[in-house]
Amino acid sequence: MAHILILYSTTDGQTLKICRHLQQMMEQGSHRVTLKSVDEEPEVDIAPFDKIVVGARIRYGKHTPQVFQFARSHRQALDAKPNGFFTVNVVARKPEKNSPETNPYMRKFLAQSAWQPKALAVFAGRIDYKRYGFWDRQVIRFIMWITKGPTDPNTDVEFTDWAKVEAFGRRISQM
Ligand SMILES: Cc1cc2nc3c(=O)[nH]c(=O)nc-3n(C[C@H](O)[C@H](O)[C@H](O)COP(=O)(O)O)c2cc1C
Repeated sequence: MAHILILYSTTDGQTLKICRHLQQMMEQGSHRVTLKSVDEEPEVDIAPFDKIVVGARIRYGKHTPQVFQFARSHRQALDAKPNGFFTVNVVARKPEKNSPETNPYMRKFLAQSAWQPKALAVFAGRIDYKRYGFWDRQVIRFIMWITKGPTDPNTDVEFTDWAKVEAFGRRISQM
């Protein structure tokens, strides 16, 4: 049995939902799981944990700076443990952009981060226009129009492939 730390960065909750799904799976596999927000605790002590997973959402092309702060501060300790990282964004709804090799935000993360995670995953997120403020809604609808996604302001669509999330969870459990 391992004690696994899952750190998340979320604004609208989809990344947290994915983390909770991973937690549930891992706990069913008899692991102990602690969930924490990397945005609230980028300097969290990782010493008590056997494995570390970080999941971070994209907004306006970026992961939060706290994800990089965490990676910088803990690089050596991270390298000594099994670890994984996943990014959540809507570009990943496109099959040609949904792998660690093809997703632009994963490529950017790996280019910018001193920590090079051992397991990587890319998950498509959710679009729920009613949750967003006026300007965010207009900008995202415009980007969706350009990229042939849903533009109806009533849209609430979850693009997340849960089988893919579970495959990543199994991979982390077996590390
Ligand atoms: C204001 C805003 C900006 C976003 N910018 C991007 C972006 O630049 N690229 C992208 O692929 N997805 C973008 N998204 C989609 C989010 O990554 C997606 O909604 C994800 O599920 C958000 O995760 P969260 O619910 O954990 O915050 C954006 C969403 C919002 C609301």
